Amino acid sequence: MAKIDFLSLLDFERAGLDEILEKAARLKAELRAGRRSEPLRGQVLGVIFHKPSLRTRISFEVGMQQLGGGSLYITDQEIGFGKREAIKDIGAVMSRFLSGIMIRTFAQSHVDELARWASVPVINGLTDWVHPCQIMADLMTVREHGFDLDAIRVAWIGDGNNVANTWIHAARAYGFEITLACPAGHDPDPESVARVQQSGRGKVTLVRDPREAARGAQVVITDTWTSMGQEAEAQERRRQFASYQVNRELLKLADPRAIVMHCLPAHRGEEITDDVIDGPQSVVYDEAENRLHAQKGILLHCLG
Ligand code: CP
Ligand code: NVA
Repeated sequence: MAKIDFLSLLDFERAGLDEILEKAARLKAELRAGRRSEPLRGQVLGVIFHKPSLRTRISFEVGMQQLGGGSLYITDQEIGFGKREAIKDIGAVMSRFLSGIMIRTFAQSHVDELARWASVPVINGLTDWVHPCQIMADLMTVREHGFDLDAIRVAWIGDGNNVANTWIHAARAYGFEITLACPAGHDPDPESVARVQQSGRGKVTLVRDPREAARGAQVVITDTWTSMGQEAEAQERRRQFASYQVNRELLKLADPRAIVMHCLPAHRGEEITDDVIDGPQSVVYDEAENRLHAQKGILLHCLG
């Protein structure tokens, strides 16, 4: 049987994603009820990080423990990805020791190449292009808050970054509508937008005015103006994104039942105000917690 990687949501149809979300919901309910099964007993996941992390690292390492397995954290200092050693050799050798590999890095092509040479499943823990594990937790959170994934209108405010691209991929799978308000020069990946348009499922609209995106939305999402790796541009970005803030005034335009999401880490007072992120419509900590449950769903799907 072919191995199952988790590299991008574009590789999955709705049924496959639903299967993962169902596993995640079941594992969450079991954990809450104090019941533990250990379906990944004896398996070890290697986790490679070329960028910092709080949620992704903890959710994968704790998730593996809760599923009865273990994890091994490796930094670039150890492996010198593509420098000390070719990605091909790293993939082949790690596969001889481990049951799976989770990687957070810059270039999507490096993740794809690792997956090509690894005989064990490779899971994408964020690249400059996408953050598929995050959006699984986000979709789970949207459902838990009572929304139907077919019927939501999503407003993305801010940078057309990796998280935005992955939400666009989710729109293709589930057929929902997403409107992104990004400043000129910071639109999401045009190929991802085109994929939705070609699929005939879901709708992506790009606007410049955040109010146009927020109006009537059930899910309002933002993310940092400066993603990991863009730190040198932070000051310039603060200027370019100044009017792309999720604040109380903007939120008033959304559906009154709307939830506010942010993958975190947040820059309070920049892309989102304190009163909104700490307010009654914010679900950011549910979203963060669901990283654990969603990751376990993905682990079971790929390694189980
Ligand atoms: N949301 C998210 O991926 O958080 P970390 O960068 O802390 O893993
Ligand atoms: N867009 C952010 C997401 C962090 C989880 C980044 O890439 O830094």
